[in-house]
Amino acid sequence: MSLITKLRKKLSDSNFLRRVPISILTNFKDLDEFVSQFKNNPDLEFLARYKLDENAFFDMFGSKNNNPDPFSAEYRDYEFKFFEFLAGNKYNVSDEGEKLGRDSSTLYATNPLVHMSESYRVERLNKVIDFASFIGMRQGEKILEMGCGYGFLASTLEAWGADYWGIDASEIFIDCSRRMVFSDKTKKQIVHSQFADFENLGQKFDTVIFESAFHHCSDPVGLLQKIHTNHRGRVILWNEPILESADRPWGIIRYDGETMLQIRSRGWLELAWTRDFLYELFRKTGWMVKREDRSRNFVEIIKQ
Ligand SMILES: C[S@@+](CC[C@H](N)C(=O)[O-])C[C@H]1O[C@@H](n2cnc3c(N)ncnc32)[C@H](O)[C@@H]1O
Repeated sequence: MSLITKLRKKLSDSNFLRRVPISILTNFKDLDEFVSQFKNNPDLEFLARYKLDENAFFDMFGSKNNNPDPFSAEYRDYEFKFFEFLAGNKYNVSDEGEKLGRDSSTLYATNPLVHMSESYRVERLNKVIDFASFIGMRQGEKILEMGCGYGFLASTLEAWGADYWGIDASEIFIDCSRRMVFSDKTKKQIVHSQFADFENLGQKFDTVIFESAFHHCSDPVGLLQKIHTNHRGRVILWNEPILESADRPWGIIRYDGETMLQIRSRGWLELAWTRDFLYELFRKTGWMVKREDRSRNFVEIIKQ
């Protein structure tokens, strides 16, 4: 089980939360100290003990995003600039994997599906099998995964009989996903590309899947519009951060230790949405929710 998965399990236990005293990060010095302490000793409970004081950081940034139109370019630009302020660096999507500080071979060797215990691997793969069965995946179904990463879905969906295609902005994640699949055909269908360029594949898909990837997309409104225009089938969002409430409809709206670690130390764009906003986003971009399963953190949308 990965560190983050273990932590999520612990956080779902309210007794655990009750006995964890929370430290509030109010400045960059404390934030960087928190990051370096975690790097020296990646202790799970440590992450859960920290939270950002967002107002202190809005003050340092000079403003809070009060734009009343969360669909506007100005709203999006604010969130992006605030993210870069927290990260302390310009965003570069092409080195998402490299930001882990690993080369291609090390990334593959540290892929949880490769190096973790057999019971962990079986648990992870069973989740994907449950998912494939839940979405009613057909043999030969043409699937595009946006952000194929370590290749968890790639390996299982290929084995299930899908006509699997994957794209990722990072060369080393592409290499990792290719190593996880068996056939040369599927390896060729795993392509180095950004989300927004998916139509360059020149294919029509039955299903587009984002698994923990849509929240890394810097222009969610534009991307959903583009998929609506260039794709014939359904879209599935799985394991994306959907909040019941937040101080803004979407953006950098999670202030927990784990999110701050990913932003500050890896420069990963960690967006999130409220459910109300996400549903409105679907509606405005021509989609409707066919079904949502909250216990599985799963949403399926189809064209209106
Ligand atoms: C959490 S991982 C997804 C894991 C994947 N579902 C799996 O089964 O291993 C998110 C992936 O999205 C990729 N990514 C982030 N932003 C991207 C973008 N704009 N275009 C393409 N890929 C992107 C990252 O490189 C990363 O591999």
